[in-house]
Amino acid sequence: MNNVPDLILMIQEKIESFPRLHHSLLPTPVYRLDCLSDEYGVNVYCKRDDLTGFGFGGNKTRKLDFLLAEACDQGCNTLIAIGANQSNFCRMAAAYGVACGLDVHLVLGGKQPANPTGNLRLDHLLGVTCHHVDSTDWDTWAEEAEKLETELTSQGKTIYRMPVGGSTPRGALGYVDAFAEITADQSRLGVEFDAIMHASSSAGTQSGLIVGRAMANWPGSIIGISVAKPQDELKKDVLDLARATAAQVDAKIEPDSIIVDDSYIGKGYAIRTPGCEEAVALFARKMGIFLDYVYTGKAAAGLIDYLRIGRFDKNANVLFIHTGGNIELFE
Ligand SMILES: Cc1ncc(COP(=O)(O)O)c(C=O)c1O
Repeated sequence: MNNVPDLILMIQEKIESFPRLHHSLLPTPVYRLDCLSDEYGVNVYCKRDDLTGFGFGGNKTRKLDFLLAEACDQGCNTLIAIGANQSNFCRMAAAYGVACGLDVHLVLGGKQPANPTGNLRLDHLLGVTCHHVDSTDWDTWAEEAEKLETELTSQGKTIYRMPVGGSTPRGALGYVDAFAEITADQSRLGVEFDAIMHASSSAGTQSGLIVGRAMANWPGSIIGISVAKPQDELKKDVLDLARATAAQVDAKIEPDSIIVDDSYIGKGYAIRTPGCEEAVALFARKMGIFLDYVYTGKAAAGLIDYLRIGRFDKNANVLFIHTGGNIELFE
């Protein structure tokens, strides 16, 4: 691999001009999963973005380091985040918001439960205001959040409102930076990854990686395992967001660089599949790694299936990003 330090520096210099918090404990560990690698003859590595630190970690810390810095930079005093009742993003946004001294409001899809568990329990512990909307429709949540913003603005508050998953061009910079980190991981480990695989939903993680890939001119593939949307819909979301993210750092995105696989969703978002249950149990019992049943379990089901059906070449190097979400195990 040529000029690795130069590549990393080039990506970092491009994003340096954007304000950033440093709550994430980066870089995250990467290591070979011997049990899967030895069984299938493919070198499978795991990047532990479940250990990004702060507020129990996950992929959202990378985005929030940029988003909350922008909120503070704009002089906002109130944060609005949107997600499902068990949203990992809302839990993380709440932790970042209170740590920055902001008044945090969460618009949460789903009825208010009598006994909050998992992420919602942590939202309560963080002392933020939860507004429940009895709907699973992302557009309805966004409309409620807009209404809330109007109301809070009329009370004199200055609002920073984030969409589902914090997937804006600014938030996606977190995964452009992660790509630079992965480039350094490859150099340190002495491997070149042929593919990166991860759970994809609101497009921010995948878009950031795609932009990093374009900046580094990296030939490998980035495979987003959809956990909710049909692949054409998610591909479009990723392309739109990747282009908007790329515009901030003078990169160019080709549509054919976007790979989304929706084969592992099953009956729908957050509905368990046998493959996902198998993956969660296997990672726990053989590797001591806790996945979740909504995101990483489905992505790992995809990984295991690709290994079984021989979708990766023998001796290929594959990086699985564990994007977090395991608070769901306490739901
Ligand atoms: C644990 C976990 N993994 C993956 C994702 C998907 O990331 P993105 O929304 O950036 O596509 C999410 C999003 O909520 C998540 O919580």
